[in-house]
Formats: sequence, C-alpha cells, structure tokens
Amino acid sequence: MGVIIYLLILGIAVYVFLGLLTSGATQQCLDIDECNTDGVCGKRGICQNLIGSYWCECPAGFTNFGKNQNKCVELNCDQYETQPGQTLPGFDSFLSLLRNNCLVLNNSTLSGPTRPLPTGDVLLTLLVNTTDVLQLDLQSNGHRSSSEVTKLLKTIEISIRLIAPLLTENVTRIETNHTDVEILVRRDKTPPKGPVSLTNENTQLDTTWETVIGDYQNYQGFAFVVLLSYKNLDSLKDTTSRQNLQLMSSALTVSVSNSNTTNLPQLINLTFNHLQSSDVDPTCVYWSDENGPGVWSELGCTSVMSNSNQTVCSCSHLSTFALLKGIHQKKGTGQLSLVMWGGVFVALTCVVLSLITTLWCRFVSRKRRGGNRLKQDVQLHRK
Ligand SMILES: *[C@@H]1O[C@H](CO)[C@@H](O)[C@H](O)[C@H]1NC(C)=O
Ligand SMILES: *[C@@H]1O[C@H](CO)[C@@H](O)[C@H](O)[C@H]1NC(C)=O
Ligand SMILES: *[C@@H]1O[C@H](CO)[C@@H](O)[C@H](O)[C@H]1NC(C)=O
Ligand SMILES: *[C@@H]1O[C@H](CO)[C@@H](O)[C@H](O)[C@H]1NC(C)=O
Ligand SMILES: *[C@@H]1O[C@H](CO)[C@@H](O)[C@H](O)[C@H]1NC(C)=O
Ligand SMILES: *[C@@H]1O[C@H](CO)[C@@H](O)[C@H](O)[C@H]1NC(C)=O
Ligand SMILES: *[C@@H]1O[C@H](CO)[C@@H](O)[C@H](O)[C@H]1NC(C)=O
Ligand SMILES: *[C@@H]1O[C@H](CO)[C@@H](O)[C@H](O)[C@H]1NC(C)=O
Repeated sequence: MGVIIYLLILGIAVYVFLGLLTSGATQQCLDIDECNTDGVCGKRGICQNLIGSYWCECPAGFTNFGKNQNKCVELNCDQYETQPGQTLPGFDSFLSLLRNNCLVLNNSTLSGPTRPLPTGDVLLTLLVNTTDVLQLDLQSNGHRSSSEVTKLLKTIEISIRLIAPLLTENVTRIETNHTDVEILVRRDKTPPKGPVSLTNENTQLDTTWETVIGDYQNYQGFAFVVLLSYKNLDSLKDTTSRQNLQLMSSALTVSVSNSNTTNLPQLINLTFNHLQSSDVDPTCVYWSDENGPGVWSELGCTSVMSNSNQTVCSCSHLSTFALLKGIHQKKGTGQLSLVMWGGVFVALTCVVLSLITTLWCRFVSRKRRGGNRLKQDVQLHRK
C-alpha cells in the first residue's frame, strides 16, 4: 500500500515537473513554423509552411533542383552557351543540352516545375560519353591547343555543378574505357563533418566535409564531392613547353559543392598510382589557366610522399591534377626567359659590386696602413 502511494506521489511530481517544462499550458502538438527560421529557403526562396513540414518556392532564375526543402540558389544558364569557332567534337551538343536543362530549372514556375526535371544520371552518362570522345580526339589530334584543353576542363567543371545536385543516389559511379567518375552526395539537414575519401583504380582523394562545404553559412542542404579520372589524357600537354611533358599518372578533376576553392584552409591529399613504376621523382601539378591559355603548374601542390609505385600530393586548391615527369627543366618559355634575364642581371650586378668592393678595399687599406703607422707613432710616443 505504502509503495502505491509512493508511486502515485512520484507520478504526480513528474507530471507537474514536465508540465512546468512545457510552460504549463499546452498539451496538444504545435506545428513548428520552420519558415520563421531565417534563410531556411535561401535569400530569395519563399518558404511555405505545412503542418509538420515546409517547402521552398524558388522564383524564376533560382532553383533548389527539385528538392523541396533545399535552399534556392541562383542559376547562370549563360555559362552553358556554345561559343563560335570551337572544334572539339560532341562539345556543342553537350553544352546546348546542359543549357536546355538549366533553362527548365530556371523557368520552373512558383508552383513547381511545369516540365519534368532533368535527371542527373542521364546527364552524367552524357558527360562521360563526351569526355570519352574528347579523349580519343586529343589522342589522335596532337595539335589541340592549350586553350581548347582549358575549355574542355572548364566545361566539365561547370557541368558537374549542374549534374551533381540532380543525382538521386548517395553514390554514383560510371566507368568506361577512358573515364572513371564517382560522385558522393549528402543531403543532411545540418552540414556533415569529418573525413571523406573517394577511391578509384588509379587515385585516392582524401579531404573533409568541412572543405567540401566551405562556409557553413552557405550550406544549401546538400553537399557533393566528385573525383573524375581521365585514363587517356596522356597527350594533355601545354603547348608552351618545348619538350613533351610526360604524365606519370592519369589526370583527374576534383570538384566539390563549395565553389570558393582557390585557397583552401585545409589541404586535400591525392594519392596517385604511377602508370609505370619509376624511380624518377614526379612533380605534383595542376592545370592552370590564370596567366594564359593553360599550363601545368606546381603552385600550391607539393609531393609529401613518393615511392616507385605511388605519390601523395597535398594541394591547397581544387582543379585538374596529375603527376609529371621532369617539369623543372621545362617550364613555360615566357617564365623561363624572365628567370634567365633575372639571373643575368643579378650576376652582372654582383660582378660590378665585387669590382667596386675590391677597388674600395685596396684604396681603404692603403689609407689605413698610413693611418696605423700614425697611431703606432702616437702609442710609442706615449710609452
Ligand atoms: C532565368 O530567369 C530569370 C528570371 O526570370 C531571367 O531574368 C533570366 O533571363 C533567365 N535566364 C536565362 C538564361 O534565360
Ligand atoms: C518561361 O516560362 C514562361 C511562362 O511560364 C514562358 O512564357 C517562357 O516561354 C518560358 N521560357 C523559357 C525559356 O522556357
Ligand atoms: C557516345 O554516344 C554516342 C551516341 O549516344 C555513341 O554513338 C558513341 O559510341 C558513344 N561514344 C563512346 C566513346 O562511348
Ligand atoms: C544516403 O545517406 C543518408 C545519410 O546522409 C542515409 O540516411 C541514407 O540511408 C542513404 N541512402 C542510401 C540509399 O544509402
Ligand atoms: C573497351 O576496351 C575493351 C578492351 O580494350 C574493348 O574490347 C571494348 O570494345 C572497349 N569498349 C568501348 C566502348 O570502347
Ligand atoms: C593530408 O596529409 C597531411 C600530411 O600527410 C595531413 O596532415 C592531413 O591531415 C591530410 N589531410 C586530409 C584531409 O586527410
Ligand atoms: C574564400 O575562402 C577563403 C579561405 O577560406 C576566404 O578567406 C575568403 O574570404 C573566401 N572568399 C569568398 C568570396 O567567400
Ligand atoms: C611496387 O609494386 C611492386 C609490384 O606490385 C611491388 O613488388 C613493390 O614492392 C612495390 N614497391 C613499393 C615501394 O611499394
């Protein structure tokens, strides 16, 4: 009996305590208006509250890629415009397809898309097919210019930005004879954290979700990381080099949802398997188009480990990477001549300076000898 009374009192106490916790009054469930949270649909998205849920309406020019609870982001379909005068095969049709899909997203009206959304998988298959065709072309067409290679790599990067958010699976992988692409997508409410790595036959990428996402303020409700290997881009050379630069690994493009990747706070690591085991020290490089049509550059990438089969590169930015044999003697001609003339200037300055110094020393020491004698005389005199 005493036990029952004790339990009863305990029960009442807990009830009152819980009641106090929920501010006493409300017993029924309340709908949390997610729309009261600032920026839940992005800067321009319009939040619609539903009982127990919400969705984001994106105005024209913005999209959340058909994922109703993702933030609306601005689209730029003009970057998929074809340019006159380009001769890469299959390129124009791929670009105009991307543009059409972008326009569908751009124009999806407030009440939802009128046309069915493009599917990421179909677009990705086309991207891989186009990459295959282009690699075959570059192999058989040694005369392709650096700027064409730059255009190809740029287009691959911008197309990934459109395709990855449209993918439905967490992991998507396509491999052909020439291309190997793997895409990891996360759609967590809060930004994922911790290490993430992608591996294929020839390479491994190690980074963190923090790097993939960048500024947490800009988290769109999804994050993706892409590793795309070109198995046959051994002919990817910059035309400014006089000699052929030989690739010691497959080239690969790394892309992530964060678009500010020119100066990463945390280094990414790339492990390359050498195409052939080799004792030559390879150089970690990326394809740089900052000063001209495009060259392999070492800037921001260092080799942290290397044996005859593998090399690990640490890089502070994202782009297209590879291992090169003997880049040191074969820099861009402009750079080389600048360095050379700098050296000549320094050498000449040194010669002139040493001549002046020698003459000056002779002059001074002659004077000193005279001076010293005087001093000695004085000291002698004192003694
Ligand atoms: C996308 O939509 C916006 C808003 O309607 C419009 O101003 C813009 O021209 C569209 N973009 C393209 C490439 O049509
Ligand atoms: C965009 O949508 C409007 C009305 O929904 C339509 O008149 C216009 O043709 C569309 N534009 C494109 C480029 O699809
Ligand atoms: C790419 O696709 C086209 C048409 O869909 C096909 O004819 C061609 O063989 C494909 N190329 C490669 C390298 O798979
Ligand atoms: C995809 O990842 C999420 C976590 O981000 C997980 O909850 C879900 O089960 C995964 N889906 C599949 C098909 O693996
Ligand atoms: C891929 O390579 C294999 C072996 O070299 C060949 O038999 C096959 O036809 C190739 N496939 C394509 C699509 O080129
Ligand atoms: C990359 O390697 C360096 C040194 O080997 C290590 O300090 C760093 O944590 C690695 N980064 C990632 C993302 O694994
Ligand atoms: C890009 O990232 C760097 C390093 O994290 C940061 O300092 C810079 O402010 C960022 N730039 C923009 C435009 O967000
Ligand atoms: C390189 O690979 C060969 C063959 O797979 C193996 O015998 C050798 O031990 C490897 N070398 C190193 C340094 O890992």
